[in-house]
Amino acid sequence: MEDDPSHRELYGTVLERAGYDVMRASNADEALRALETRVPDLILTDVVMPTMSGMSLLRELMNLHPGVGVILQTSQPQIADAVEAIKIGALDYLDKSSLIPPTRLAERVAAALQKRQRKSAGHAAGFHGMVGNDPKMRSACLLIQQVADSIANVLVYGETGSGKELAARAIHAESKRADGPFITLDCSTLAPELAESELFGHEKGAFSGAVSQHRGRFERAHRGTLLLDEVGNLTVAMQAKLLRVIQTRTFERVGGEKSIAADVRIVAASNRSLEEMINEGGFRRDLYHRLNVVQIRLPSLRERLQDVPELVNHFLARYATQAERQPPQWTPAAMAKLQEHDWPGNIRELENFVYRVVLLCQKPVIDTEDVNAFLAAQELAPAASAPATPQSAAGASPMGAPSGGPAPAPAPAPLDLSSQVEAQEKDILTKALARNRYNLSRTAKELKISRTTLYSKLSKYGIPVP
Ligand SMILES: Nc1ncnc2c1ncn2[C@@H]1O[C@H](COP(=O)(O)OP(=O)(O)OP(=O)(O)O)[C@@H](O)[C@H]1O
Ligand SMILES: [Mg+2]
Repeated sequence: MEDDPSHRELYGTVLERAGYDVMRASNADEALRALETRVPDLILTDVVMPTMSGMSLLRELMNLHPGVGVILQTSQPQIADAVEAIKIGALDYLDKSSLIPPTRLAERVAAALQKRQRKSAGHAAGFHGMVGNDPKMRSACLLIQQVADSIANVLVYGETGSGKELAARAIHAESKRADGPFITLDCSTLAPELAESELFGHEKGAFSGAVSQHRGRFERAHRGTLLLDEVGNLTVAMQAKLLRVIQTRTFERVGGEKSIAADVRIVAASNRSLEEMINEGGFRRDLYHRLNVVQIRLPSLRERLQDVPELVNHFLARYATQAERQPPQWTPAAMAKLQEHDWPGNIRELENFVYRVVLLCQKPVIDTEDVNAFLAAQELAPAASAPATPQSAAGASPMGAPSGGPAPAPAPAPLDLSSQVEAQEKDILTKALARNRYNLSRTAKELKISRTTLYSKLSKYGIPVP
């Protein structure tokens, strides 16, 4: 895309001679319109243009078509712009004066297309499953790569559902310990009286109930990585014991005397500020310094809404394959709607959302109304504030989920008895299905009707089932 007609013709011809199929546009609007019918492999755009700058267009393109390659070219190159463009996702930033002779453009295009292929291959499942291109996310991934090989303990901060466990697994997978065990301990669900035995194990007879010897997480994580999830929940007594193990690199099982070596890399995760907890006296400063050798902060989803389309496509591909159906398409407006939501449950909430859409919405194209309906359902469901796995979130919805259509408008008072009864019946069916996780036999049993009756009622009311 190029507003100068002579340049546009020159570049177009050079690329056509090199064998490329070229579409031409003289401004961003024209280009965006053309994209509605066909998305090319690569878009070459001028930076300074009349209606929308190349940089804004690049942002827009990365939102709408995260897989498309973009090259920006300009006669007034600026280093800051070049850095920004690459960060946003451009494949190259070209100084037009370097395009002499113009055939050099074909070389740069070929190189960019190769880069795009590599990017999409490495991107298929993101960096160890961490999808997203936002600069904050990319620096987190870079830091993971940089520290993985050291033995430094790492503290991962992030809101609930922001990917702390995924990041911990990435640290392990990138490290020399990748072939060793990855063990997790969720300190938030750990009963204080069991904590020591869970971490360090126990000998047979160490306490009543200790009927056999038990290896704790430290022992199982030997030569591997131990994730201490929600580490701020450890009692002060356990914090002291943990500190000792980190200092001496040895521990004893409860009731045991033998000192056991612990070659363990600790990744601690927290969504609470440990610094604040230290000030309030709830966390030991010395332990904090041992855990916080390197700190990685994961951005919340609301801080990186530009990644929403890519994440949606990632989860769509996963759950549509699982459900053995074609992934639905999203209108640009529907996608934009998702980027306005604040996602308090972060990526897990988005993942649950996509899962429910794949499971419950049978439409080939998802529009804003569908998004609104599903978001409204998610807000009412407890799963949204306490996200669980997609499976349980979908099943636990107490109000069922929208039946695939737009949000039901506040219903005008039904006119007659039979429509009231039908509305009630539909509601009861939807809720029962959700309660029974869409298992038809169980739903029929609960409602004390035959499966055949259930089928016919579902089809009568158009309630979709997976
Ligand atoms: N960058 C990402 N790309 C793709 N999927 C992600 C990403 N981050 C997180 N997820 C997915 O989101 C879900 C939640 O991630 P994870 O369990 O790592 O979060 P968490 O921060 O540990 O959450 P919690 O605070 O609730 O323990 C998982 O299913 C995970 O696979
Ligand atoms: Mg977690």
